Amino acid sequence: MEFIDLQAQYRIMRDPVNRAIQEVLDSSRYINGPWVKELETVLARFVGVGHAVGFSSGTDALLAILMAWGIGPGDEVITSPFSFIATAETIALVGARPVFVDVSPDTLNLDPELIEAAITSRTKAIMPVSIFGQCADFDAINAVAAAHGLLVLEDACQSFGATYKGRRSCGVTSAAATSFFPAKPLGCYGDGGMAFTQEAELAQRLRIIREHGQIEQYRHTMLGINGRLDTLQAAILLAKFPFFEGEIQARLKVADRYATLFASKVRIPEIRSENISVFAQYTVRITDRERVRAAMSSAGIPTAIHYPTPLHRQAVFASLGYGDEALPQATLAAREVMSLPMHPYLTSEQQDQVALVLLQAVA
Ligand SMILES: Cc1ncc(COP(=O)(O)O)c(C=O)c1O
Repeated sequence: MEFIDLQAQYRIMRDPVNRAIQEVLDSSRYINGPWVKELETVLARFVGVGHAVGFSSGTDALLAILMAWGIGPGDEVITSPFSFIATAETIALVGARPVFVDVSPDTLNLDPELIEAAITSRTKAIMPVSIFGQCADFDAINAVAAAHGLLVLEDACQSFGATYKGRRSCGVTSAAATSFFPAKPLGCYGDGGMAFTQEAELAQRLRIIREHGQIEQYRHTMLGINGRLDTLQAAILLAKFPFFEGEIQARLKVADRYATLFASKVRIPEIRSENISVFAQYTVRITDRERVRAAMSSAGIPTAIHYPTPLHRQAVFASLGYGDEALPQATLAAREVMSLPMHPYLTSEQQDQVALVLLQAVA
């Protein structure tokens, strides 16, 4: 059994994907080919925002947005300690200080109630993460941000396709960044990402930053990066996109079935009523995780830990000086979380097998 079965997906999409790759090869337009612009148009429409800017990864999209906002040394950005490293890494890369605020115990997303107390005169932005495919509490977060004149950047690297009160992830904050890493809900065949915003001026700055701060060939007006989305990846994503809605529905079916199979015996992901998650991960909570995980492994069932160490306990952020007592929910979650196989092509039989072993192990 695969944790995420990219082979099964490729078997279904093989013809359109191969055709798309061949078209790019025939054109030889590997950098800034027309597929990039087309993908930006298609995905901006899907999200419901005015502008999408392709990037070489989700990390570069996050970084470029912070750069475009002029966030840097002396500034603080409030974010979640329960995420992948890129979330806080990009804040530190622009020279700003990540300020960690604890997560809600049900969703493991930033707890909006705790944000206000972390705001200082140096705070410039809030970067909530829509973890595991479920949107953060954006009305509450946007309200705190508006009251204090702060920008909001959704780290939507796990939540492309999800909805919050009927609006798509990536379209509910000042700006957002998603990832097309192969294992993501909408994945390409390498690295890729995209930034989204309603603001034309921000989108323009992002396009300049993406190309070494260049406004026309060899004229550089600001510091940028080599952050372009590969034409090949854009063409692959365009070929895969028509399958995406169906895949989201299939993920929801898998999640529903897991919930039924586990009944009240396993602490399953809690999805708030205003959210439709895309289940980038199906992450349960287990108190004696290592023993259960070993049992799963001996039965040939792959699991993963997202994430074993919260960001405030990563060596790279030791100098920020956070102890575990400061962020108890993130600390506890890191000890208990375990992600199960989750992808649109997981069969009922495979799910039964996962449930059989897990329920035996936790009994
Ligand atoms: C929450 C989160 N933020 C940022 C990233 C970075 O995305 P990428 O790997 O495309 O740089 C990822 C994915 O890996 C992620 O899960």
